[in-house]
Amino acid sequence: MTGNSPVTPVLQARGLVKRYGHVTAIDGADFDLLPGEVLAVIGDNGAGKTSLIKALTGALTPDEGEIRLHGEPIRFTGPQSARQHGIETVYQDLAVAASMDIASNMFLGRELRRPGVLGRVFRLLDKKRMREEAAAHMADLRIGLRSLTQPVETLSGGQRQAVAVARSVAWATSVVVMDEPTAALGVKESGQVLDLIRRVRDQGMPVVLISHNMPHVFEIADRVHVHRLGRREALIKPSDYSMAEVVAIMTGALDVRKDGGTVVADTGAAQAAGLPAH
Ligand SMILES: Nc1ncnc2c1ncn2[C@@H]1O[C@H](COP(=O)(O)OP(=O)(O)OP(=O)(O)O)[C@@H](O)[C@H]1O
Ligand SMILES: [Mg+2]
Repeated sequence: MTGNSPVTPVLQARGLVKRYGHVTAIDGADFDLLPGEVLAVIGDNGAGKTSLIKALTGALTPDEGEIRLHGEPIRFTGPQSARQHGIETVYQDLAVAASMDIASNMFLGRELRRPGVLGRVFRLLDKKRMREEAAAHMADLRIGLRSLTQPVETLSGGQRQAVAVARSVAWATSVVVMDEPTAALGVKESGQVLDLIRRVRDQGMPVVLISHNMPHVFEIADRVHVHRLGRREALIKPSDYSMAEVVAIMTGALDVRKDGGTVVADTGAAQAAGLPAH
């Protein structure tokens, strides 16, 4: 399936299809995420990005197609099943519990119990250990927060997003997927989240970043998956294209087609756009 490629993609999909009545949300989509990369997924509104990501993170069951994790075919029965396989998703709507403190958010749904009978029978939480582990993890990612006992609702948007990212990174063993993590953030906060994504990548964890923000994509992505009309239109390196060209691919103004996994610009359109011949 991976041909002669020496690198096995961490997460891969071929020919995914998802229909809702007569709407085809995913129309034969392919996907490839390599180890240690930040892969941006971009596309117009309604192109099917969220649907694709849902299929890859177990939130949606595709009608057709195949998903492989570390080269092995896999079927997720739900988001929990994807999480058990090391795929963590940071959702756009800041999925943190506002009234709980940072450490509790880190361990939400995975609380550490006190050792022995206190934890087993009385279900007492080991708050001290959770705080210590959360603190170590935040320090590891160089996320500076004054107090881990601070309720999340008292944090800024960027700090909240940092907590959500830190939590997903703490539990992910294969992939971290982020849906528009900077959409609700200001310039400074966005910059902090991008820095954090970079550090996550540098620790060896591949990141899938869905974004509408072209400057962010060009700043941080190692490769860009361009989604259009329910399928992958192109998979490119940002260094090979200008932002205007990528937008043109996204809207269909620039026609590209894939050839053995490499994107080949349509000759006429490529010449018109002044692209190098691939
Ligand atoms: N549950 C659903 N039922 C019916 N149609 C759906 C459903 N989910 C998605 N669609 C349709 O599938 C298409 C792709 O939607 P999707 O949300 O995946 O796009 P998107 O690229 O994430 O868009 P956006 O950038 O606006 O978030 C749209 O036409 C949408 O209306
Ligand atoms: Mg979407």
